[in-house]
Amino acid sequence: MKIALLGCGVVGGGVLEIAEKRSDMSVKYVLVRRDKPELGDKAVKDINAILNDKEVDTVVEVMGGLSPAFEYVSAAMRAGKNVVTANKHLVAHYYKELVSLASEMNVAFRCTPAVGGGIPWLVNLERVKRLDSVQSFCGIMNGTTNFILDAMHTNGADFSEVLAEAQRLGYAEADPSADIDGLDIQRKAVISANVAFDACLSEKDVPVFGIRSILSCDIAAAESRERICKMLAFGEKSASGAVSCYVEPCFVPAGELEAAVSTNRNVISFVTELTGKESFYGQGAGRYPTAYNAVADCADIISGVKEFYTSLVRDVPVDNNAAEHRYYVRFSGSDDFLASVESEKCGEGIITMPVPVAKMHEWAARAKEADPGVFIAGLI
Ligand code: HSE
Repeated sequence: MKIALLGCGVVGGGVLEIAEKRSDMSVKYVLVRRDKPELGDKAVKDINAILNDKEVDTVVEVMGGLSPAFEYVSAAMRAGKNVVTANKHLVAHYYKELVSLASEMNVAFRCTPAVGGGIPWLVNLERVKRLDSVQSFCGIMNGTTNFILDAMHTNGADFSEVLAEAQRLGYAEADPSADIDGLDIQRKAVISANVAFDACLSEKDVPVFGIRSILSCDIAAAESRERICKMLAFGEKSASGAVSCYVEPCFVPAGELEAAVSTNRNVISFVTELTGKESFYGQGAGRYPTAYNAVADCADIISGVKEFYTSLVRDVPVDNNAAEHRYYVRFSGSDDFLASVESEKCGEGIITMPVPVAKMHEWAARAKEADPGVFIAGLI
């Protein structure tokens, strides 16, 4: 396999290093924006050098962002090249276009590193669906936010200091607001829901609340209930066929699997009709774990894998009021809705009665205008 790598940052550098040690693949080009003399004659700045070279059969996109990644990846598929990408923003945003184009051009399209970094989540989701039906998934899908929450629980760490450490370790996105506001997880949830349920959700279908406003008093509130605060993504298919999918901090009972996941680790689980719950645990971010899954996708293509994880891209109804649970809410000021759902006090916040997820997220989005420091967490 002759690879052209688009981008050579934290993950791209790892892909180059791992791929170059293998005998079944080699990196012929690396598309860069700035000069990188250490890449020698592999470095190119013009995508056409890659598109016009028939020897290149596979493009590995690790540049991130939507543009020009979308234009480059689409052009690569149109030129008959397989595509592997770690770019969850690209795949979530252009899901239908890219899955359809890959099928039309009869090229392989894989994005295992886009969800869960080094965890083989999407390939196992694909595998279980051959025999079984996925009912739901749930998981910690972001290394940066787990690293922050874990440090706040274990050392009483300060939010911004620990975020800077996650950036230094290469876990965080270029703009870490994508991590702390939950957008990175939202994109991973979109891709997971679409593969799990043969659906075609987009980011707007997945309500999200991040951890930007979390305070040590919220961590203390969780601990007072023998719970640990974790940032979770959920997806579920109801009996009627509607899908719910959302992302929010949760106070998880201390004995649950998710509560024990430390540092930048992720755990993602699916529940299926026949096998029940199966969980996949590992490093969800970082150079080598993510690069490993990109190279593993290339190895899968060499061994004949062609299809995307699902060939079905259907418009399924989305209903985020089908799911409901109690919430911890910290809001300064009085509010009629909160008063109507309050069940008990909890530290500087309250615990609500069960509230439909979409309703709670709509309230929280409005409440941010009155109190930008508002914080909510589901009690699961
Ligand atoms: N910023 C992401 C994370 C990288 O922290 O999980 C891996 O997708």
